[in-house]
Amino acid sequence: MDSQQKIKQLIDFRQEARIGGGEKRIDKQHEQGKYTARERIEMLLDEGSFEETDMFVTHRCTEFGMEKTKFLGDGVVTGHGTIDGRIVYVYAQDFTVFGGSLSETYAKKICKIMDQAMKVGAPIIGINDSGGARIQEGVNSLAGYAEIFQRNIMASGVVPQISAIFGPCAGGAVYSPALTDVVIMSDKTSYMFVTGPKVTKTVTGENISTEDLGGATMHATKSGVAHFRADDENEGIMLIRKTLEFLPQNNLEDPVITRCADPIDRLDDDLNEIIPDNPNQAYDVKDIIYTIVDNDDFLEFHRHYAKNIVVGFAKFNGRPVGIVANQPNFLAGVLDIEASRKAARFVRLCDAFNVPIVTLVDVPGFLPGSHQEYGGIIIHGAKLLFAYGEATVPKITITLRKSYGGAHDVMSSKQLRGDYNYAWPSAQIAVMGSKGAIEILEGKKIRSIENPDERKEYIKTKEDEYLNNFANPYQAAKYGYIDDVIEPRNTRFRIIRALQTLATKKDSNPPKKHSNMPL
Ligand code: HXC
Repeated sequence: MDSQQKIKQLIDFRQEARIGGGEKRIDKQHEQGKYTARERIEMLLDEGSFEETDMFVTHRCTEFGMEKTKFLGDGVVTGHGTIDGRIVYVYAQDFTVFGGSLSETYAKKICKIMDQAMKVGAPIIGINDSGGARIQEGVNSLAGYAEIFQRNIMASGVVPQISAIFGPCAGGAVYSPALTDVVIMSDKTSYMFVTGPKVTKTVTGENISTEDLGGATMHATKSGVAHFRADDENEGIMLIRKTLEFLPQNNLEDPVITRCADPIDRLDDDLNEIIPDNPNQAYDVKDIIYTIVDNDDFLEFHRHYAKNIVVGFAKFNGRPVGIVANQPNFLAGVLDIEASRKAARFVRLCDAFNVPIVTLVDVPGFLPGSHQEYGGIIIHGAKLLFAYGEATVPKITITLRKSYGGAHDVMSSKQLRGDYNYAWPSAQIAVMGSKGAIEILEGKKIRSIENPDERKEYIKTKEDEYLNNFANPYQAAKYGYIDDVIEPRNTRFRIIRALQTLATKKDSNPPKKHSNMPL
Protein backbone atom coordinates (compact mmCIF):
# COMPACT_ATOMS: atom_id res chain seq x y z
CA MET A 1 0.00 0.00 0.00
CA ASP A 2 1.44 3.41 -0.86
CA SER A 3 0.93 6.43 1.35
CA GLN A 4 -2.13 7.64 -0.59
CA GLN A 5 -3.76 4.26 -0.24
CA LYS A 6 -2.98 4.25 3.46
CA ILE A 7 -4.67 7.60 3.87
CA LYS A 8 -7.66 6.37 1.86
CA GLN A 9 -7.84 3.34 4.14
CA LEU A 10 -7.92 5.59 7.19
CA ILE A 11 -10.70 7.68 5.67
CA ASP A 12 -12.65 4.53 4.84
CA PHE A 13 -12.22 3.15 8.35
CA ARG A 14 -13.43 6.41 9.82
CA GLN A 15 -16.41 6.41 7.51
CA GLU A 16 -17.21 2.84 8.48
CA ALA A 17 -17.02 3.66 12.19
CA ARG A 18 -19.26 6.70 11.75
CA ILE A 19 -22.19 4.67 10.48
CA GLY A 20 -22.12 2.38 13.54
CA GLY A 21 -24.56 -0.51 13.08
CA GLY A 22 -25.54 0.67 9.58
CA GLU A 23 -28.09 2.88 7.85
CA LYS A 24 -31.04 0.56 8.50
CA ARG A 25 -30.53 0.61 12.24
CA ILE A 26 -29.91 4.37 12.16
CA ASP A 27 -33.25 4.80 10.37
CA LYS A 28 -34.94 2.67 13.03
CA GLN A 29 -33.40 4.84 15.73
CA HIS A 30 -34.75 7.98 14.03
CA GLU A 31 -38.18 6.39 13.55
CA GLN A 32 -38.35 5.94 17.32
CA GLY A 33 -37.77 9.67 17.80
CA LYS A 34 -34.18 9.12 18.94
CA TYR A 35 -30.91 10.58 17.73
CA THR A 36 -27.81 8.44 17.16
CA ALA A 37 -24.87 8.50 19.56
CA ARG A 38 -22.82 10.74 17.25
CA GLU A 39 -25.69 13.12 16.59
CA ARG A 40 -26.15 13.49 20.34
CA ILE A 41 -22.50 14.31 20.87
CA GLU A 42 -22.55 16.84 18.02
CA MET A 43 -25.55 18.57 19.61
CA LEU A 44 -23.99 18.55 23.05
CA LEU A 45 -20.55 19.94 22.35
CA ASP A 46 -19.36 23.25 20.96
CA GLU A 47 -19.31 23.05 17.18
CA GLY A 48 -16.28 21.25 15.79
CA SER A 49 -14.79 20.58 19.23
CA PHE A 50 -15.32 16.81 19.42
CA GLU A 51 -12.25 14.64 19.25
CA GLU A 52 -13.12 10.97 19.15
CA THR A 53 -10.95 8.29 20.71
CA ASP A 54 -10.89 4.53 20.17
CA MET A 55 -12.80 4.59 16.92
CA PHE A 56 -11.05 1.40 15.80
CA VAL A 57 -11.78 -0.69 18.89
CA THR A 58 -13.76 -3.87 18.25
CA HIS A 59 -15.03 -6.59 20.54
CA ARG A 60 -13.01 -9.76 21.18
CA CYS A 61 -15.85 -12.20 21.66
CA THR A 62 -15.80 -15.49 19.79
CA GLU A 63 -18.91 -17.07 21.33
CA PHE A 64 -22.17 -17.44 19.34
CA GLY A 65 -20.29 -16.72 16.06
CA MET A 66 -19.60 -13.17 17.22
CA GLU A 67 -16.20 -13.11 15.52
CA LYS A 68 -18.06 -12.76 12.21
CA THR A 69 -19.80 -9.54 13.25
CA LYS A 70 -17.69 -6.61 14.29
CA PHE A 71 -18.30 -2.89 14.17
CA LEU A 72 -15.56 -0.29 14.40
CA GLY A 73 -15.96 1.51 17.71
CA ASP A 74 -18.08 -1.30 19.15
CA GLY A 75 -21.27 0.22 20.51
CA VAL A 76 -20.00 3.29 22.28
CA VAL A 77 -18.63 6.60 21.00
CA THR A 78 -16.06 8.19 23.32
CA GLY A 79 -13.89 11.27 23.35
CA HIS A 80 -13.66 14.84 24.54
CA GLY A 81 -14.71 18.27 23.40
CA THR A 82 -15.83 21.55 24.91
CA ILE A 83 -19.00 23.06 26.31
CA ASP A 84 -18.90 26.86 26.45
CA GLY A 85 -15.19 26.53 25.79
CA ARG A 86 -14.49 24.22 28.75
CA ILE A 87 -13.21 20.65 28.31
CA VAL A 88 -15.62 17.76 28.99
CA TYR A 89 -15.21 14.03 28.47
CA VAL A 90 -18.14 12.25 26.94
CA TYR A 91 -19.36 8.81 25.99
CA ALA A 92 -22.55 7.96 24.13
CA GLN A 93 -23.83 4.41 23.85
CA ASP A 94 -24.68 3.49 20.28
CA PHE A 95 -27.91 1.48 20.17
CA THR A 96 -27.33 0.65 16.49
CA VAL A 97 -24.45 -1.69 17.46
CA PHE A 98 -25.72 -4.80 19.27
CA GLY A 99 -28.39 -2.66 20.92
CA GLY A 100 -25.72 -0.55 22.60
CA SER A 101 -24.96 -3.56 24.82
CA LEU A 102 -21.75 -3.44 26.81
CA SER A 103 -18.77 -5.60 25.87
CA GLU A 104 -15.39 -5.89 27.57
CA THR A 105 -13.64 -3.56 25.10
CA TYR A 106 -16.56 -1.11 25.14
CA ALA A 107 -16.22 -0.85 28.94
CA LYS A 108 -12.49 -0.24 28.50
CA LYS A 109 -13.24 2.66 26.14
CA ILE A 110 -15.46 4.28 28.77
CA CYS A 111 -12.93 3.65 31.54
CA LYS A 112 -10.19 5.22 29.44
CA ILE A 113 -11.99 8.54 29.08
CA MET A 114 -13.05 8.48 32.74
CA ASP A 115 -9.41 8.04 33.76
CA GLN A 116 -8.37 10.89 31.48
CA ALA A 117 -11.12 13.13 32.81
CA MET A 118 -9.85 12.52 36.34
CA LYS A 119 -6.28 13.38 35.37
CA VAL A 120 -7.32 16.52 33.52
CA GLY A 121 -9.96 17.47 36.11
CA ALA A 122 -12.88 17.74 33.71
CA PRO A 123 -16.56 16.70 33.88
CA ILE A 124 -17.72 13.31 32.57
CA ILE A 125 -20.95 13.09 30.60
CA GLY A 126 -22.50 9.70 29.81
CA ILE A 127 -25.36 9.29 27.34
CA ASN A 128 -27.13 5.99 27.95
CA ASP A 129 -29.07 4.01 25.35
CA SER A 130 -28.34 0.35 25.79
CA GLY A 131 -29.72 -3.17 26.10
CA GLY A 132 -27.38 -3.72 29.07
CA ALA A 133 -24.76 -6.41 29.45
CA ARG A 134 -23.78 -7.96 26.10
CA ILE A 135 -25.22 -11.37 26.60
CA GLN A 136 -22.61 -13.12 24.43
CA GLU A 137 -19.78 -11.77 26.60
CA GLY A 138 -21.11 -13.08 29.91
CA VAL A 139 -19.00 -12.26 32.94
CA ASN A 140 -16.64 -10.05 30.95
CA SER A 141 -19.52 -7.67 30.51
CA LEU A 142 -20.35 -7.76 34.22
CA ALA A 143 -16.71 -7.06 35.03
CA GLY A 144 -16.78 -4.16 32.57
CA TYR A 145 -19.71 -2.60 34.39
CA ALA A 146 -17.99 -2.97 37.73
CA GLU A 147 -14.88 -1.24 36.32
CA ILE A 148 -17.08 1.70 35.36
CA PHE A 149 -18.87 1.74 38.73
CA GLN A 150 -15.55 1.86 40.57
CA ARG A 151 -14.51 4.86 38.49
CA ASN A 152 -17.87 6.56 39.07
CA ILE A 153 -17.26 6.18 42.78
CA MET A 154 -13.70 7.53 42.64
CA ALA A 155 -14.79 10.46 40.48
CA SER A 156 -17.68 11.34 42.81
CA GLY A 157 -16.98 14.71 44.38
CA VAL A 158 -13.86 15.17 42.22
CA VAL A 159 -15.31 15.97 38.78
CA PRO A 160 -18.98 16.57 37.96
CA GLN A 161 -20.63 13.50 36.43
CA ILE A 162 -23.83 13.87 34.43
CA SER A 163 -25.93 11.05 32.98
CA ALA A 164 -28.51 11.41 30.24
CA ILE A 165 -30.82 8.46 29.69
CA PHE A 166 -32.14 8.57 26.12
CA GLY A 167 -33.18 4.93 25.69
CA PRO A 168 -33.15 1.69 27.67
CA CYS A 169 -31.06 1.48 30.83
CA ALA A 170 -31.83 -1.71 32.69
CA GLY A 171 -30.48 -4.23 35.15
CA GLY A 172 -27.24 -3.46 36.95
CA ALA A 173 -26.51 -0.89 34.25
CA VAL A 174 -28.70 1.58 36.14
CA TYR A 175 -26.11 1.84 38.86
CA SER A 176 -23.65 3.85 36.84
CA PRO A 177 -26.09 6.76 36.35
CA ALA A 178 -27.26 6.31 39.93
CA LEU A 179 -23.71 6.96 41.14
CA THR A 180 -23.44 10.22 39.19
CA ASP A 181 -24.43 13.73 40.25
CA VAL A 182 -27.25 14.46 37.85
CA VAL A 183 -29.62 12.14 35.95
CA ILE A 184 -31.66 13.46 33.02
CA MET A 185 -34.28 11.27 31.31
CA SER A 186 -36.03 11.91 28.02
CA ASP A 187 -39.81 11.64 28.25
CA LYS A 188 -41.41 8.52 26.69
CA THR A 189 -38.19 7.33 25.00
CA SER A 190 -36.19 6.25 28.04
CA TYR A 191 -36.58 3.91 30.95
CA MET A 192 -34.59 2.70 33.91
CA PHE A 193 -35.27 -0.29 36.13
CA VAL A 194 -33.36 -2.98 37.97
CA THR A 195 -35.80 -5.61 36.75
CA GLY A 196 -38.16 -5.11 33.81
CA PRO A 197 -41.89 -5.75 33.49
CA LYS A 198 -41.48 -9.39 32.45
CA VAL A 199 -39.38 -10.43 35.43
CA THR A 200 -41.58 -8.34 37.69
CA LYS A 201 -44.64 -10.25 36.44
CA THR A 202 -42.93 -13.64 36.91
CA VAL A 203 -41.61 -12.94 40.39
CA THR A 204 -44.36 -10.84 41.94
CA GLY A 205 -47.35 -11.33 39.65
CA GLU A 206 -47.59 -7.56 39.18
CA ASN A 207 -48.69 -6.42 35.73
CA ILE A 208 -47.05 -3.12 34.90
CA SER A 209 -45.99 -1.30 31.75
CA THR A 210 -42.41 -0.27 30.96
CA GLU A 211 -43.39 3.39 31.24
CA ASP A 212 -45.08 2.97 34.62
CA LEU A 213 -42.27 0.85 36.00
CA GLY A 214 -39.32 2.93 34.87
CA GLY A 215 -40.29 5.81 32.58
CA ALA A 216 -39.10 9.38 32.97
CA THR A 217 -42.33 10.50 34.62
CA MET A 218 -42.13 7.81 37.27
CA HIS A 219 -38.50 8.59 38.10
CA ALA A 220 -39.07 12.35 38.08
CA THR A 221 -42.12 12.19 40.34
CA LYS A 222 -42.03 9.04 42.46
CA SER A 223 -38.53 7.59 42.89
CA GLY A 224 -36.51 10.80 42.57
CA VAL A 225 -33.90 8.89 40.51
CA ALA A 226 -34.21 11.47 37.71
CA HIS A 227 -33.37 15.08 38.51
CA PHE A 228 -34.87 16.18 35.21
CA ARG A 229 -37.53 14.85 32.86
CA ALA A 230 -36.79 16.40 29.49
CA ASP A 231 -39.57 16.73 26.90
CA ASP A 232 -37.17 15.36 24.30
CA GLU A 233 -33.48 14.78 23.68
CA ASN A 234 -32.94 18.38 22.56
CA GLU A 235 -34.12 19.62 25.93
CA GLY A 236 -32.09 16.93 27.67
CA ILE A 237 -28.92 18.09 25.92
CA MET A 238 -29.70 21.71 26.78
CA LEU A 239 -30.08 20.69 30.44
CA ILE A 240 -26.63 19.06 30.49
CA ARG A 241 -25.06 22.25 29.13
CA LYS A 242 -27.06 24.44 31.50
CA THR A 243 -26.17 22.38 34.58
CA LEU A 244 -22.46 22.67 33.81
CA GLU A 245 -22.78 26.46 33.70
CA PHE A 246 -23.10 26.41 37.50
CA LEU A 247 -20.40 23.87 38.28
CA PRO A 248 -16.61 24.15 38.26
CA GLN A 249 -14.48 21.72 36.26
CA ASN A 250 -13.49 19.89 39.44
CA ASN A 251 -13.51 20.10 43.22
CA LEU A 252 -10.32 22.19 43.35
CA GLU A 253 -11.82 24.99 41.29
CA ASP A 254 -14.61 27.47 41.93
CA PRO A 255 -17.63 27.87 39.67
CA VAL A 256 -17.15 30.41 36.89
CA ILE A 257 -18.41 33.92 37.65
CA THR A 258 -20.05 35.52 34.61
CA ARG A 259 -20.83 39.15 33.81
CA CYS A 260 -24.22 40.23 35.06
CA ALA A 261 -26.34 43.10 33.75
CA ASP A 262 -29.07 42.70 36.36
CA PRO A 263 -28.54 45.53 38.93
CA ILE A 264 -27.32 44.30 42.28
CA ASP A 265 -29.20 46.94 44.26
CA ARG A 266 -32.61 46.81 42.64
CA LEU A 267 -35.32 46.97 45.31
CA ASP A 268 -38.07 44.38 44.89
CA ASP A 269 -40.98 46.17 46.54
CA ASP A 270 -43.35 43.25 45.91
CA LEU A 271 -41.39 41.20 48.41
CA ASN A 272 -42.47 43.51 51.23
CA GLU A 273 -46.02 42.27 50.69
CA ILE A 274 -45.53 38.70 49.55
CA ILE A 275 -45.95 37.00 52.94
CA PRO A 276 -49.67 36.69 53.79
CA ASP A 277 -50.76 38.07 57.18
CA ASN A 278 -52.48 34.79 57.91
CA PRO A 279 -49.69 32.37 58.90
CA ASN A 280 -51.71 29.46 57.52
CA GLN A 281 -52.00 30.96 54.05
CA ALA A 282 -49.71 29.59 51.37
CA TYR A 283 -47.63 31.46 48.81
CA ASP A 284 -45.22 30.30 46.14
CA VAL A 285 -41.62 30.52 47.30
CA LYS A 286 -40.54 30.31 43.65
CA ASP A 287 -41.96 33.83 43.20
CA ILE A 288 -39.39 34.97 45.73
CA ILE A 289 -36.58 32.97 44.10
CA TYR A 290 -37.29 34.32 40.62
CA THR A 291 -37.46 37.86 42.00
CA ILE A 292 -34.13 37.88 43.82
CA VAL A 293 -31.85 35.92 41.44
CA ASP A 294 -30.13 37.30 38.31
CA ASN A 295 -32.45 37.71 35.32
CA ASP A 296 -35.25 35.43 36.74
CA ASP A 297 -33.02 32.51 35.82
CA PHE A 298 -33.42 29.48 38.09
CA LEU A 299 -32.50 25.92 37.07
CA GLU A 300 -34.77 23.82 39.26
CA PHE A 301 -33.70 20.26 40.10
CA HIS A 302 -36.31 17.61 40.96
CA ARG A 303 -39.15 19.94 39.99
CA HIS A 304 -41.78 17.24 40.19
CA TYR A 305 -40.45 15.32 43.20
CA ALA A 306 -40.92 16.25 46.89
CA LYS A 307 -42.43 19.56 45.89
CA ASN A 308 -42.52 20.75 49.51
CA ILE A 309 -38.89 21.72 49.09
CA VAL A 310 -37.41 23.54 46.09
CA VAL A 311 -33.76 23.12 45.08
CA GLY A 312 -31.75 24.35 42.13
CA PHE A 313 -29.04 26.58 40.72
CA ALA A 314 -29.16 30.32 40.12
CA LYS A 315 -26.73 33.22 40.08
CA PHE A 316 -26.32 36.36 42.16
CA ASN A 317 -24.37 39.06 40.36
CA GLY A 318 -23.03 36.33 38.07
CA ARG A 319 -21.91 34.08 40.95
CA PRO A 320 -23.44 30.56 40.90
CA VAL A 321 -25.26 29.39 44.04
CA GLY A 322 -27.42 26.48 45.06
CA ILE A 323 -30.81 27.46 46.44
CA VAL A 324 -32.75 25.35 48.94
CA ALA A 325 -36.20 26.67 49.87
CA ASN A 326 -39.16 25.27 51.76
CA GLN A 327 -42.30 25.54 49.61
CA PRO A 328 -45.37 26.71 51.61
CA ASN A 329 -47.47 26.07 48.49
CA PHE A 330 -47.11 22.30 48.85
CA LEU A 331 -47.86 20.46 52.11
CA ALA A 332 -47.22 23.81 53.84
CA GLY A 333 -43.49 23.33 53.18
CA VAL A 334 -43.23 20.57 55.78
CA LEU A 335 -40.07 18.44 55.91
CA ASP A 336 -40.77 14.78 55.20
CA ILE A 337 -38.66 11.80 54.11
CA GLU A 338 -38.54 12.68 50.43
CA ALA A 339 -37.92 16.39 50.94
CA SER A 340 -35.10 15.65 53.38
CA ARG A 341 -33.40 13.23 50.97
CA LYS A 342 -33.84 15.54 48.00
CA ALA A 343 -32.39 18.56 49.77
CA ALA A 344 -29.58 16.61 51.46
CA ARG A 345 -28.36 15.28 48.13
CA PHE A 346 -28.45 18.76 46.64
CA VAL A 347 -26.60 20.37 49.57
CA ARG A 348 -23.86 17.75 49.18
CA LEU A 349 -23.62 18.39 45.44
CA CYS A 350 -23.12 22.09 46.12
CA ASP A 351 -20.61 21.52 48.88
CA ALA A 352 -18.60 19.00 46.84
CA PHE A 353 -18.18 21.51 44.04
CA ASN A 354 -17.70 24.74 45.98
CA VAL A 355 -21.10 26.20 45.16
CA PRO A 356 -22.36 28.49 47.98
CA ILE A 357 -25.76 27.63 49.41
CA VAL A 358 -28.60 30.11 49.91
CA THR A 359 -31.41 28.69 52.08
CA LEU A 360 -34.88 30.25 52.24
CA VAL A 361 -36.75 29.02 55.30
CA ASP A 362 -40.50 28.75 55.84
CA VAL A 363 -40.97 25.41 57.55
CA PRO A 364 -43.70 24.42 60.00
CA GLY A 365 -41.69 21.38 61.16
CA PHE A 366 -41.35 17.69 60.32
CA LEU A 367 -44.39 15.82 59.03
CA PRO A 368 -45.93 13.79 61.89
CA GLY A 369 -47.35 10.28 61.55
CA SER A 370 -46.66 6.56 61.57
CA HIS A 371 -45.98 6.53 57.82
CA GLN A 372 -43.08 8.92 58.33
CA GLU A 373 -41.76 7.24 61.48
CA TYR A 374 -41.95 3.74 59.96
CA GLY A 375 -40.20 5.06 56.86
CA GLY A 376 -37.34 6.35 58.98
CA ILE A 377 -37.84 10.11 59.01
CA ILE A 378 -35.32 10.14 61.86
CA ILE A 379 -32.60 8.81 59.56
CA HIS A 380 -33.68 10.80 56.50
CA GLY A 381 -34.11 14.08 58.36
CA ALA A 382 -30.66 13.47 59.84
CA LYS A 383 -29.26 13.33 56.30
CA LEU A 384 -30.22 16.93 55.68
CA LEU A 385 -28.97 17.99 59.08
CA PHE A 386 -25.70 16.19 58.41
CA ALA A 387 -25.32 17.64 54.93
CA TYR A 388 -25.75 21.20 56.14
CA GLY A 389 -23.53 20.70 59.17
CA GLU A 390 -20.76 19.13 57.13
CA ALA A 391 -20.86 21.71 54.32
CA THR A 392 -17.98 24.19 54.35
CA VAL A 393 -19.08 26.37 51.43
CA PRO A 394 -20.51 29.83 52.18
CA LYS A 395 -23.98 29.36 53.71
CA ILE A 396 -26.52 32.16 53.75
CA THR A 397 -29.91 31.60 55.34
CA ILE A 398 -32.96 33.85 55.09
CA THR A 399 -35.89 32.99 57.35
CA LEU A 400 -38.99 34.23 55.56
CA ARG A 401 -41.70 33.08 57.93
CA LYS A 402 -41.97 29.89 60.00
CA SER A 403 -38.93 28.19 61.40
CA TYR A 404 -40.12 25.80 64.04
CA GLY A 405 -38.64 23.10 66.20
CA GLY A 406 -36.13 20.58 64.91
CA ALA A 407 -36.72 21.82 61.37
CA HIS A 408 -35.37 25.22 62.46
CA ASP A 409 -32.08 23.66 63.49
CA VAL A 410 -31.89 21.55 60.31
CA MET A 411 -32.50 24.33 57.81
CA SER A 412 -28.99 25.81 57.81
CA SER A 413 -29.25 27.35 61.26
CA LYS A 414 -26.50 29.47 62.78
CA GLN A 415 -25.25 26.56 64.87
CA LEU A 416 -24.70 24.43 61.75
CA ARG A 417 -22.00 26.91 60.80
CA GLY A 418 -24.36 29.24 58.96
CA ASP A 419 -22.30 32.24 57.86
CA TYR A 420 -25.00 34.86 57.53
CA ASN A 421 -28.42 34.12 58.97
CA TYR A 422 -30.91 36.82 58.15
CA ALA A 423 -34.64 36.99 58.84
CA TRP A 424 -37.50 38.96 57.41
CA PRO A 425 -39.69 40.83 59.95
CA SER A 426 -42.39 38.21 59.23
CA ALA A 427 -40.16 35.42 60.63
CA GLN A 428 -41.46 33.24 63.44
CA ILE A 429 -38.60 31.36 65.04
CA ALA A 430 -39.81 29.23 67.94
CA VAL A 431 -40.10 25.72 69.33
CA MET A 432 -43.52 25.27 67.79
CA GLY A 433 -46.53 27.10 66.35
CA SER A 434 -48.92 29.03 68.61
CA LYS A 435 -51.75 26.49 68.43
CA GLY A 436 -49.63 23.55 69.54
CA ALA A 437 -47.83 25.56 72.19
CA ILE A 438 -51.01 26.86 73.81
CA GLU A 439 -52.61 23.41 73.78
CA ILE A 440 -49.64 22.07 75.74
CA LEU A 441 -49.10 24.98 78.08
CA GLU A 442 -52.75 25.84 78.74
CA GLY A 443 -54.53 22.53 78.06
CA LYS A 444 -55.77 21.97 81.62
CA LYS A 445 -57.01 25.53 81.99
CA ILE A 446 -58.69 25.48 78.56
CA ARG A 447 -60.57 22.25 79.33
CA SER A 448 -61.77 23.71 82.65
CA ILE A 449 -63.59 26.60 80.90
CA GLU A 450 -67.12 25.40 80.31
CA ASN A 451 -68.52 28.25 78.25
CA PRO A 452 -67.42 27.66 74.60
CA ASP A 453 -67.25 31.38 73.77
CA GLU A 454 -65.16 32.10 76.83
CA ARG A 455 -62.93 29.14 75.99
CA LYS A 456 -62.42 30.39 72.43
CA GLU A 457 -61.64 33.87 73.66
CA TYR A 458 -59.13 32.54 76.17
CA ILE A 459 -57.36 30.46 73.52
CA LYS A 460 -57.18 33.45 71.20
CA THR A 461 -55.76 35.72 73.88
CA LYS A 462 -53.12 33.17 74.80
CA GLU A 463 -52.22 32.45 71.16
CA ASP A 464 -51.86 36.17 70.45
CA GLU A 465 -49.70 36.54 73.52
CA TYR A 466 -47.50 33.67 72.32
CA LEU A 467 -47.30 35.06 68.80
CA ASN A 468 -46.29 38.48 70.08
CA ASN A 469 -43.71 37.16 72.52
CA PHE A 470 -42.21 34.21 70.68
CA ALA A 471 -43.25 34.07 67.03
CA ASN A 472 -40.95 36.77 65.72
CA PRO A 473 -37.33 37.08 64.63
CA TYR A 474 -36.23 39.19 67.58
CA GLN A 475 -36.04 36.42 70.18
CA ALA A 476 -33.47 34.67 67.99
CA ALA A 477 -31.78 37.96 67.05
CA LYS A 478 -31.47 38.80 70.74
CA TYR A 479 -29.15 35.83 71.16
CA GLY A 480 -27.26 36.40 67.90
CA TYR A 481 -28.78 33.31 66.25
CA ILE A 482 -30.03 35.69 63.59
CA ASP A 483 -27.40 38.17 62.42
CA ASP A 484 -29.83 40.77 61.16
CA VAL A 485 -33.49 41.34 60.44
CA ILE A 486 -33.71 42.69 56.90
CA GLU A 487 -36.31 44.39 54.78
CA PRO A 488 -37.62 41.83 52.24
CA ARG A 489 -37.20 44.14 49.22
CA ASN A 490 -33.49 44.41 50.00
CA THR A 491 -32.89 40.65 50.02
CA ARG A 492 -31.08 40.42 46.67
CA PHE A 493 -28.58 43.07 47.65
CA ARG A 494 -27.94 41.54 51.07
CA ILE A 495 -27.31 38.11 49.55
CA ILE A 496 -24.96 39.51 46.93
CA ARG A 497 -22.98 41.41 49.53
CA ALA A 498 -22.79 38.36 51.78
CA LEU A 499 -21.56 36.22 48.89
CA GLN A 500 -18.88 38.76 48.04
CA THR A 501 -17.77 38.90 51.66
CA LEU A 502 -17.63 35.13 51.86
CA ALA A 503 -15.76 34.63 48.58
CA THR A 504 -12.53 33.96 50.47
CA LYS A 505 -14.16 31.91 53.23
CA LYS A 506 -12.09 28.95 54.43
CA ASP A 507 -13.52 26.27 56.67
CA SER A 508 -12.73 22.61 57.08
CA ASN A 509 -13.76 19.44 58.86
CA PRO A 510 -11.49 17.37 61.13
CA PRO A 511 -9.27 14.84 59.31
CA LYS A 512 -10.97 11.45 59.00
CA LYS A 513 -11.25 8.54 56.61
CA HIS A 514 -14.81 9.60 55.84
CA SER A 515 -17.84 10.53 57.84
CA ASN A 516 -20.50 7.99 58.68
CA MET A 517 -23.53 9.92 57.57
CA PRO A 518 -26.90 8.28 58.29
CA LEU A 519 -27.68 6.56 54.96
C1 HXC B 1 -26.52 -8.44 22.97
C2 HXC B 1 -28.36 -7.24 22.33
C3 HXC B 1 -28.67 -6.99 23.69
C4 HXC B 1 -27.83 -7.53 24.68
C5 HXC B 1 -30.14 -6.02 22.45
N1 HXC B 1 -29.29 -6.62 21.60
N2 HXC B 1 -29.79 -6.23 23.73
N3 HXC B 1 -27.28 -7.95 21.99
N4 HXC B 1 -26.77 -8.25 24.28
N5 HXC B 1 -28.07 -7.31 25.97
C6 HXC B 1 -29.32 -6.60 20.16
C7 HXC B 1 -30.48 -7.38 19.56
O1 HXC B 1 -30.12 -8.71 19.41
C8 HXC B 1 -30.67 -6.66 18.22
O2 HXC B 1 -29.68 -7.11 17.34
C9 HXC B 1 -30.34 -5.24 18.55
O3 HXC B 1 -29.55 -5.26 19.75
C10 HXC B 1 -31.56 -4.40 18.81
O4 HXC B 1 -32.36 -5.08 19.75
P1 HXC B 1 -33.92 -5.26 19.53
O5 HXC B 1 -34.38 -6.24 20.55
O6 HXC B 1 -34.22 -5.53 18.11
O7 HXC B 1 -34.44 -3.79 19.85
P2 HXC B 1 -35.77 -3.35 20.56
O8 HXC B 1 -36.92 -4.10 20.01
O9 HXC B 1 -35.79 -1.87 20.46
O10 HXC B 1 -35.60 -3.79 22.10
C11 HXC B 1 -34.60 -3.21 22.91
C12 HXC B 1 -34.47 -3.98 24.22
C13 HXC B 1 -34.24 -5.49 23.93
C14 HXC B 1 -35.75 -3.80 25.05
C15 HXC B 1 -33.31 -3.37 25.00
O11 HXC B 1 -33.22 -5.60 22.97
C16 HXC B 1 -33.88 -6.26 25.14
O12 HXC B 1 -34.73 -6.59 25.98
N6 HXC B 1 -32.59 -6.58 25.26
C17 HXC B 1 -32.08 -7.38 26.36
C18 HXC B 1 -32.06 -6.57 27.59
C19 HXC B 1 -31.48 -7.33 28.75
O13 HXC B 1 -32.11 -8.19 29.33
N7 HXC B 1 -30.18 -7.07 28.97
C20 HXC B 1 -29.46 -7.70 30.03
C21 HXC B 1 -29.89 -6.95 31.29
S1 HXC B 1 -28.99 -7.49 32.64
P3 HXC B 1 -29.88 -7.06 15.75
O14 HXC B 1 -28.66 -7.70 15.22
O15 HXC B 1 -31.14 -7.78 15.47
O16 HXC B 1 -29.96 -5.60 15.38
C22 HXC B 1 -27.71 -6.50 32.63
C23 HXC B 1 -26.81 -6.78 33.72
C24 HXC B 1 -25.86 -5.66 33.88
O17 HXC B 1 -27.56 -5.69 31.83
C25 HXC B 1 -25.12 -5.98 35.12
C26 HXC B 1 -24.25 -4.88 35.55
C27 HXC B 1 -23.74 -5.13 36.92
